[in-house]
Amino acid sequence: MCGIAGYIGDSPEQNILYRLRLLEYRGYDSAGIAVSDGEKSDGEKIVITKRAGELKNLEAALKQAGKTAGAKLGIGHTRWATHGKPDEINAHPHVSRDGKWAVVHNGIIENHAELKSELKKLGYEFYSATDTETAAKLLEYYSAQGAAPLQALRQTCERLEGSFAMAILHAGEKKIYFAKNKSPLYLAYAENDGKKRTYLASDVICFSAQAREYYALPDGVYGMADENGAEFYDKTGRIFLPAEKLSAAYTGEEINRYPHYMLKEIYDTLPALRAETTYFESNFTFENYPLLCGANGGRGFTKAVLVGCGTAYHAALSGAGMLGRVADLDSAAYVASEFRYYCPKIDENTLAVFISQSGETADTLAAMQEAKRRSAKTLAVVNAEHSTLAKNADAFLPVKAGTEIAVASTKAYSCQAAALYALAEFLRAAALPLQKRCAPDFSALNALCAGLSYGDGNEEKEIARLFCGGKKLFFIGRGDDYRTALEASLKIKETSYLNADVYYAGELKHGFLALVDENSYVVVFATEEATLQKTLSNAEEARARGAGIILFTTNETALPDCPEEKFFRILRVNKLGGVAGGNPLQCVQNILPWQRIAYELSVEKGLNPDKPRNLAKSVTVE
Ligand code: F6R
Repeated sequence: MCGIAGYIGDSPEQNILYRLRLLEYRGYDSAGIAVSDGEKSDGEKIVITKRAGELKNLEAALKQAGKTAGAKLGIGHTRWATHGKPDEINAHPHVSRDGKWAVVHNGIIENHAELKSELKKLGYEFYSATDTETAAKLLEYYSAQGAAPLQALRQTCERLEGSFAMAILHAGEKKIYFAKNKSPLYLAYAENDGKKRTYLASDVICFSAQAREYYALPDGVYGMADENGAEFYDKTGRIFLPAEKLSAAYTGEEINRYPHYMLKEIYDTLPALRAETTYFESNFTFENYPLLCGANGGRGFTKAVLVGCGTAYHAALSGAGMLGRVADLDSAAYVASEFRYYCPKIDENTLAVFISQSGETADTLAAMQEAKRRSAKTLAVVNAEHSTLAKNADAFLPVKAGTEIAVASTKAYSCQAAALYALAEFLRAAALPLQKRCAPDFSALNALCAGLSYGDGNEEKEIARLFCGGKKLFFIGRGDDYRTALEASLKIKETSYLNADVYYAGELKHGFLALVDENSYVVVFATEEATLQKTLSNAEEARARGAGIILFTTNETALPDCPEEKFFRILRVNKLGGVAGGNPLQCVQNILPWQRIAYELSVEKGLNPDKPRNLAKSVTVE
């Protein structure tokens, strides 16, 4: 959510604009840069360019003005609006009255209203509705009181409450100042051909191709960077070195032959699941996860809560079902933003599992804090290894989806579900007394990888065209089918802005049947044999009210005679084999056609599936 970047170096093609392109998926309702490199300014003045809308608008503006973005020193921002409309005025960078300070910021300054009124009394005027502008004005205020730039930054940070990652230019200095609290900020150095470069970013994807080693800055740090390195200070003003030097393989994703990241990422699912399975087979062992095993056998906890937001919450719902069925563990899923304030009864006998693609989702982080406060054991199931959630949990189980760029999550969801299944198998094995314990059985994961099928996408395109026809959409299902319907509906909402209400099939007659008429499609998710007949009866109830019934079932499900009379359309999904009684990971196969339908709907409507309106990847504000 919001991308910030800073760059000091000499490579025009790696300039700040190049870095923002890599960050655009984190926010795209406006963008801006501040440069001060002596090329287009006198080095004393900071030159700001900002535009509402996607980054291409900023690029066009720079081109039109004949401005180079080949800056040797610059900061930039892609915004997802929190305070103030997504327009040019509210776009970052924000500047001080004297134009000497320029700030890009990710996070929320919670006491901005109070700071603003204090500064207004001192004669400062505000041009934007943002919280960030208060930081620029505070920097100016403390400078005017005689503080050196670093001291002004320290005094400013002391006044700010909430979350912030900031990159800051000060006119006349070839430096980038920075500060971090609760929002992610990374710093990296690189040296090529004897030339040094320094990078700052809210997301490692921004520099990982150039710099394999980087620092994750801790909370409360501030400092300054130039092309020779950086100085870091803590809250007491003492200089220190951030201990944690991290390295990562290049995670930048090439879009290759695909027109959009979302489609590419749907097709990434299978290789990602294979990588994850291989990883679990060697690393998800009792020795590596003592948190999940009691010292003398058993598990060391009596129940589990699974927590996440959006798609990750849907994975949590599936995971809770798996933990119950496979591991015989009392388990329930919670939405993170609710968990924090309406926390169920949990204690040291509870395993609290936090699921997240980014590992930086503010609601999930806050929920984890609450679980820790109540002494629960915490496990992070996260796609980003060096994220705050992964670092702060008692144990970390990696999701191996790889970088996900499209805002609508696809492969990460599937890999989260697979990871939670692996957790269920692990906990089943761990429950046994020590002498009877043997390694968890991950064969269903292998069967999933062997059997996962994509189809050619033609049926999904047809369904997408059908959904564009303007009828009301209702999705019904039971058990795992209901959970798939929830995630399918979320994908469709995100990418096409169409509404698809989701209900338990058995609930149809208890109210919402009143909404169903001949202007409706009711999509019946019915891939589970055990509940098929009951769900088909519910479909009949809707058909009797004139709705067109679209049946989603498996290629092995036997249907009543004359299905063409009963169903307007039938979409069949591959039934996974290889596991007696059915593969518990059928839900991963089942979501694939719906991710594809959501993608095709977006394309059919002429939208950009990678960048749904009003949304951004990684929601770092509560
Ligand atoms: C939907 C989607 C979101 C995220 C949610 C949590 O496609 O991507 O609902 O799942 O914002 O994000 P993470 O998983 O990063 O915690």
